[in-house]
Amino acid sequence: MSKINVAILGATGMIGQRFIQMLEDHPYFEIEGLYASERSQGKKLSEVLKVRDHVYLDETMDREIEVMDVGKISKNCRVAFSGIPSDLAGPTETQLAEAGVAVFTNAGSHRMDEHVPILIPEVNPDQIEAIKDQPTYKDGGYIVTNANCSSTGIAAPLAALDRAYGLKQVFVSTYQALSGAGYPGVPSLDAVGNVVPFISHEEEKMETELAKMLGTYSNGKFNFAGFKVMANCARVPVVDGHLESLVLDLEQQPTLEEIEKTLVGFRGEPQKLNLPSAPVQPIIVRHEDNRPQPVFDVMAGSPARAKGMAVTIGRLRQGNGYYKAFAMSHNTLRGGAGGSVLNAELAKAKGIL
Ligand SMILES: NC(=O)c1ccc[n+]([C@@H]2O[C@H](COP(=O)([O-])OP(=O)(O)OC[C@H]3O[C@@H](n4cnc5c(N)ncnc54)[C@H](OP(=O)(O)O)[C@@H]3O)[C@@H](O)[C@H]2O)c1
Repeated sequence: MSKINVAILGATGMIGQRFIQMLEDHPYFEIEGLYASERSQGKKLSEVLKVRDHVYLDETMDREIEVMDVGKISKNCRVAFSGIPSDLAGPTETQLAEAGVAVFTNAGSHRMDEHVPILIPEVNPDQIEAIKDQPTYKDGGYIVTNANCSSTGIAAPLAALDRAYGLKQVFVSTYQALSGAGYPGVPSLDAVGNVVPFISHEEEKMETELAKMLGTYSNGKFNFAGFKVMANCARVPVVDGHLESLVLDLEQQPTLEEIEKTLVGFRGEPQKLNLPSAPVQPIIVRHEDNRPQPVFDVMAGSPARAKGMAVTIGRLRQGNGYYKAFAMSHNTLRGGAGGSVLNAELAKAKGIL
């Protein structure tokens, strides 16, 4: 089987380098080029390395960064994986889709566009059908987004519980890693030994993106789910991994054993299709008093290609009619590049690529 040529946009950034990690030896995709700004032109990956916990292949480290060029990318690539800033992503991704490229993006610019899904294949695989209503689809181009990293981390557990017991309200407080702000991100004097209780637009994103993802797409329209999300977001001095505290108001009153069984047994389309980057068990439940923690749980997931793609839930409790828990996920893998790669794998499995 010949592989599909792909471009990585933002290859010097936190998300771009996770894309390179996931795609350097991928069974479906071949990296055609690493693209960033003029600042990085001609530099080897080894000179602009940001990811510290992955050993790239020697030939990957020697690859040179090129200036992003829509014409070249659309001529050579069927797919673009995008990790560029939102203001640039808006027009660039539209141009690529218009030129017939399938764009799988982490940027927020197109998430609320009509006919553009915020896709998490375990949660809303059917919403991929929305791309067929995008005007560029007839010529092969389209845009698929994934959610912001804190919404992604709780989307699968919330979907599992909503389907089983009905969600009324979600109160979420986040403890978000520094890598979520990109590189170099939060100034060190603001981050070290500190917690910053503000992340621009993050709370608004959580309050709308989850409702879009857990809703439906029919008759050319997204119908948002009816439950309410109230979010408080903070940045903490952790490198990778968002911890999120949850208080849930459910329509039914299941036991904690029933909740755990629902979460642990949750499987989606990627698991049924055995997609390469799909974690065998998308939601892991831990019983220790002090888990999940970023240092222990951020790389949860198996097989090896799906490390960092599972969500870990812990400290499940019940009281006063509410359910409480902590969720932990890898913001640049599950909540970033890995999410987009899984979306592209789903598109291929469905014959859309
Ligand atoms: N970090 C996360 O956890 C996370 C999670 C979900 C979504 N996202 C979204 O993903 C996107 C990337 O985030 P990030 O954290 O990877 O940011 P980042 O570390 O700041 O990287 C940004 C990348 O964009 C490139 N870029 C900037 N201006 C450019 C230009 N004019 N032309 C071409 N390339 C340009 C940069 O290249 P140079 O090095 O050459 O400047 C760099 O490769 C953002 O839209 C972000 O909101 C991030």
